Amino acid sequence: MHIALTGATGFLGCRLLPRLLRRGAEVTVLARPRPRDARERLAEAFTRMAAPAPLLDALRHRVRVVEADVSLPRLGLPARRFQELADGVDAVWHSAGDIRLNADLASLRTTNVEGTRHVLEFAAAGRRCPRLHHVSTAFVAGGLRDGVAREREPTDTHGFENHYERSKYEGELLVRDWCRRYGRPALVLRPSILVSDLPPGPGLPPHPLQFLAEMARSGLEAAELAGLGLPAGAPPPVVRMPGRADGHLNLLPVEWAAEAMVLISERFPHRSPGVFHVVHPRDTPMAVLVRLFERFLPVRLDLRPDGVPDPTEAERVADFYPGFTPYLGHRRRFDDAAARRLLAGLPPPPDVDLAYLLSGTTPVTAGPAAAALGP
Ligand SMILES: NC(=O)c1ccc[n+]([C@@H]2O[C@H](COP(=O)([O-])OP(=O)(O)OC[C@H]3O[C@@H](n4cnc5c(N)ncnc54)[C@H](OP(=O)(O)O)[C@@H]3O)[C@@H](O)[C@H]2O)c1
Repeated sequence: MHIALTGATGFLGCRLLPRLLRRGAEVTVLARPRPRDARERLAEAFTRMAAPAPLLDALRHRVRVVEADVSLPRLGLPARRFQELADGVDAVWHSAGDIRLNADLASLRTTNVEGTRHVLEFAAAGRRCPRLHHVSTAFVAGGLRDGVAREREPTDTHGFENHYERSKYEGELLVRDWCRRYGRPALVLRPSILVSDLPPGPGLPPHPLQFLAEMARSGLEAAELAGLGLPAGAPPPVVRMPGRADGHLNLLPVEWAAEAMVLISERFPHRSPGVFHVVHPRDTPMAVLVRLFERFLPVRLDLRPDGVPDPTEAERVADFYPGFTPYLGHRRRFDDAAARRLLAGLPPPPDVDLAYLLSGTTPVTAGPAAAALGP
């Protein structure tokens, strides 16, 4: 089986790649050469994840890296090269994406919509009719804050919490239209928020809560520089944020998510389009996220379901990632009945509790992590 994979250098992609290699695949990684050569970055990530020797060997011998940019027509490749590559693959996994919740819609669309369009053209061009796997997000459910999000075609009925969600929704619409136009199936995989307990550090792509931690640290420094810091020994100020103390969010260990996605692909008949939520069976209570947040910033968070009128300066500083803030008010659940049927026998993921989240957001400077990829 020859697979083309986009996004291999990302947080999820570098977990998908070893699992595809373990199943014996040859993989063509379609990746940008910056900030550094993709093979070098992958070797570093594999080492950080304590990949065993056979996987490092597979990375050397069964992975071909092709410089490609999904935001460009034909992935930025000359026409003949594009066709040759497309003709050589049996499956396409599209995991490249722009996950900046706060970015402007135009730049998110460049990767998440136009990028998807170009990958779909690649899959359509292939002589072997490669199986298409599209990594979307459970958050195409958008502004549905309560109730149940279903595993079905996406809808914009509830609006979106940020431009990222909208751009991923639009990407999914392209996949749906592609299936109709070519009469071919596609597998749409919708993970929830992906996390890891591997301490962040050089060589490992970051995850969304790590961004949150880093932004909080720099926000704090900025506040201190602006003279808004707390006097030593003062109790942490109470900071109101819009949200629900009885809320919960679905956070999912990335290793488990990658394994589940590959298993779904193996067990899915690929005869008709399929949409699967890849989610944790147990949500993380908002109280855990509040405690995590309070570790990042020296404040006491008070979640207000009716919003925060007239925010104080400290409250403005605390609301440093507005693309994420609406999630503090979420209580929805994801229906993953179809995914669970295909995942029968896969042990459940570990609970994403405070210890797990602290481990994955507290940086280390170097050295391999625990054997995240197993023997
Ligand atoms: N992280 C989550 O919590 C989460 C949750 C649900 C769904 N998802 C989806 O999962 C997918 C992977 O996300 P991630 O967490 O792995 O994100 P990530 O760590 O930011 O990685 C993004 C990947 O996409 C690649 N990429 C971005 N723009 C590209 C372009 N123009 N051409 C080629 N490659 C490009 C990046 O390559 P470079 O390394 O060269 O930048 C990187 O490999 C995305 O589609 C995302 O929407 C993520």
